[in-house]
Amino acid sequence: MLKINIAVLVSGSGTNLQALIDASKAGTLKNGEIKTVISSKETAYALQRAKDNGIKAYCVPKRDFPDQQAFERRLIEILKSEGAELIVLAGFTIILSPYFINEYRDRIINIHPSLIPAFCGEGFYGLKVHQAALERGVKVTGATVHFVNEIPDGGKIILQRAVNVKDNDTPEILQRRVMMKAEWRILPKACEMVCKQLLKEKKAE
Ligand code: GRF
Repeated sequence: MLKINIAVLVSGSGTNLQALIDASKAGTLKNGEIKTVISSKETAYALQRAKDNGIKAYCVPKRDFPDQQAFERRLIEILKSEGAELIVLAGFTIILSPYFINEYRDRIINIHPSLIPAFCGEGFYGLKVHQAALERGVKVTGATVHFVNEIPDGGKIILQRAVNVKDNDTPEILQRRVMMKAEWRILPKACEMVCKQLLKEKKAE
């Protein structure tokens, strides 16, 4: 069966990558296959998750490159050599420049741990997102999967899922709930939706 070739870019624990791997095994992610994982950090446990599941893994530490463009050129070189058709940013902490985005226009999706347009954009990532939500006193937060364009967290929204904030939540407790009840559910679903659409377009060519 023809499947979309997926590359997942990571920087951390890889729990969202794990959700994609589990969905693949469960048959809910069936129109795409994770062929490549690229980490921007050697210490990312996501690399171990890739290896444990027989997925080709590359480590491209940003600090090994003189500038952003050299770093992105290396990413693109790997992605082209692996035939990646859809790029999934899963806990990837580096903002990609228009140079990279142009190479994969409308082929990059990202998981963000809030209900965009709340708590997103420059400087809103990881725990900081949940800290801001708690400081603002919102009663509902959640996660968003969106296409990536030149505006950080500004691309077309694909899926969102809401999560209740509880009275004694700390940023860590809230982050965990958002990951479990939102991120890990909507990222595989969004991936499957986009792969299905890309396959349809491919067959129509
Ligand atoms: C999570 O907070 C997620 O919301 C964000 O990156 C963090 C780590 O994700 N996208 P992961 O465990 O590396 O997938």
